[in-house]
Amino acid sequence: MKKIYSLLFLMSFLLLNTVKADEGMWIPLLLKKYNYEQMKAKGLKLTAEQLYDVNNSSMKDAIVWFNGGCTGEIISKEGLVLTNHHCGYDAIASLSTKEDNILDNGFWAKNKGEERAKPGMWVSIVQKIEDVSDKVLAELKDVEEKNRPAKLQEIFKKLTNEATKGTHYEAQVREMFKGNAYYLFTFEKFTDIRLVGTPPQSVGKFGGDADNWMWPRHTGDFSMFRIYANKENKPAAYSTANVPYQPKHHLPVNIKGIKEGDFAMIMGFPGRTNRYEFSQGIDLAIEKVNPTIVNLRDIRLKAWKEVMDKNVSDRLVLSADYASVANYWKYFIGQTEQMKRLKVYDYKKNMETNFAKFASGKSEYQNVLNNVDKAYADYKPYALQRTYLIEGILGVSMNGIASSLFPYANALKENKDTAAIVKKALAASLAATEESYAAFFPSADEKILAQILEMYYNNIPADQHPAIMSKILKSKGKTNSEKFRAYAAMVFAKSIFRTKETYEEFIKNPSIKKLKADPCYALVDAFYGNYLTNFKPKVDAFNAAIGPEGRAYIKGLMEMMPEKTFYPDANSSLRLTYGQVQAYDPKDAVHFEYYTTLDGVMEKYNPADFEFNAPQKLIDLYNSKDFGQYKMANGKLPVAFITNNDITGGNSGSPVIDGEGQLIGLAFDGNWEAMSGDIVFDEKYKRTINVDIRYVLFLIDKLGGAPHIVGEMSLIK
Ligand code: ARG
Repeated sequence: MKKIYSLLFLMSFLLLNTVKADEGMWIPLLLKKYNYEQMKAKGLKLTAEQLYDVNNSSMKDAIVWFNGGCTGEIISKEGLVLTNHHCGYDAIASLSTKEDNILDNGFWAKNKGEERAKPGMWVSIVQKIEDVSDKVLAELKDVEEKNRPAKLQEIFKKLTNEATKGTHYEAQVREMFKGNAYYLFTFEKFTDIRLVGTPPQSVGKFGGDADNWMWPRHTGDFSMFRIYANKENKPAAYSTANVPYQPKHHLPVNIKGIKEGDFAMIMGFPGRTNRYEFSQGIDLAIEKVNPTIVNLRDIRLKAWKEVMDKNVSDRLVLSADYASVANYWKYFIGQTEQMKRLKVYDYKKNMETNFAKFASGKSEYQNVLNNVDKAYADYKPYALQRTYLIEGILGVSMNGIASSLFPYANALKENKDTAAIVKKALAASLAATEESYAAFFPSADEKILAQILEMYYNNIPADQHPAIMSKILKSKGKTNSEKFRAYAAMVFAKSIFRTKETYEEFIKNPSIKKLKADPCYALVDAFYGNYLTNFKPKVDAFNAAIGPEGRAYIKGLMEMMPEKTFYPDANSSLRLTYGQVQAYDPKDAVHFEYYTTLDGVMEKYNPADFEFNAPQKLIDLYNSKDFGQYKMANGKLPVAFITNNDITGGNSGSPVIDGEGQLIGLAFDGNWEAMSGDIVFDEKYKRTINVDIRYVLFLIDKLGGAPHIVGEMSLIK
């Protein structure tokens, strides 16, 4: 028994130490130092400076952070930006009306004058990355853990101010390795962004939520925008006098095609991973948090779907919110399933066992795991409160609207300048709720509220309920379900928030007495107050306890495996991942090819199913095999392909680039068999799903009838 154990220990130790070639979201500044030789060996033909350079133009100058949640790439010298359809979705949907329905019908600007501005959109381009770890860590010395977050904000402010002084740049400091390192990113941010074109959503979202997070895939998931700048090529607010931005670099587009094993790299802005999570965190996610998020989202999705199925205008209004809630609803289902299947908990436990041996007798590390256990033991009983608040109570639109008046109520409690603060708070509420009322469906909301309250009642221990719960249960009804429905009906019948008019009337004549008597406000206030008083302190205590342990754990792992190159978790900062085009076997006896074709679109095509419908013109093009210069040698039209790159949400829209620095596709999804990928990169299963650039160009040129857009690019044939 003992022997097997130590052999197992040795094996897992070796496993941890092998550098997994394709795992890793690397900081571009460090590529030359850590990755360049390996990249070259895998097929990269560029110099390290062509990937990242501050003084000369390089690949990074063509990569944009797209609206904070996605990535895009510049593909012409006139600032043309390619990103995913699901990244442009919100803009496309909000530019659509029943009469001019570009979401359903697609759109291509015939000339620059037809491009459509969408206020509020922005893109940022990284100018410079700087390692500021020494500066930050020096200032953190002797700072107590509880004061650390505030101190960090102060240090960040100082560093970003210094970095941007006298320029129009913006800067951010990003924490890496849970606080073992810090990097400063300087950006140029553009805010005049216009829609150039999009395929119809039956192409851009083909396969819908059924196919989402899955391979084989047949989605033409792209849309196109253009960056505008002032005459000096500098960022400027929207103006008809603005001109297309001239980038320092744009990616050439390679339509020669790809084959398995080809080098492929992706540069972009991955949002969040948690690769150094403790086993305790996995357990909490699998057992409690993930299933709760899924069930709470399920309630919203079903109620919204009923509304959306009834008429087109309402569908257009709700579809972007629906898509984003559905996206992570399915994500959490998949993450839970795959964490179980791939035994992620055991993997983490094993790593911790190794760490414990290493840590034994080292004062800096020996208490880490015990402290983690203690932090989780204290926190676990209350862990769902936050989930219910964010995904439940505030998931009801009317509750969200009511909560916008918290600052108003708070202002009245303060003594100085009350009138001015009150005025400001009311104006802020008005601004914040504008969009909420544009997509407000009280009948759906009422159903959602009743079900969420009931779910809370059934799943949260009674001693954690807010006092209002007993009042709710006095509502009329034989069963609890009836009582919750009756209560929700009362709230929606009586609240001042039930219509935009009654709400605006209140803003004109505000009264704290009236607000406190409002059933919706009282409800949100009760739940939020319960959270703030009783559970937020637990969340804060947990974070304060776990923070230093996570930091020490990573530092210890680095000491334990000195030959391994570590990469930091994703944090919406610019990264690069490299690997190759690669197929996989999802399960025994099943092989998944590395690419899909238009044949597959036709196989899935089902006009009776909204998610698998396709435009008649696409079918005609398929039948006439009119694929032009975009077809493969076998005459078929490529649609999507997979690579073993390491990406996550936020990378959506990122360019897939070959060894010569040319664009071959754009990343848009992860695959089902590796949905646990944000926690552990599974070499066997993890793949990135990309649209083939040839499908993108075909859709612009042949389906969209906009060859002039393709003409703007630098094509490599
Ligand atoms: N899973 C994709 C991502 O997170 C988004 C796909 C959007 N499509 C959808 N059916 N909701 O990048």
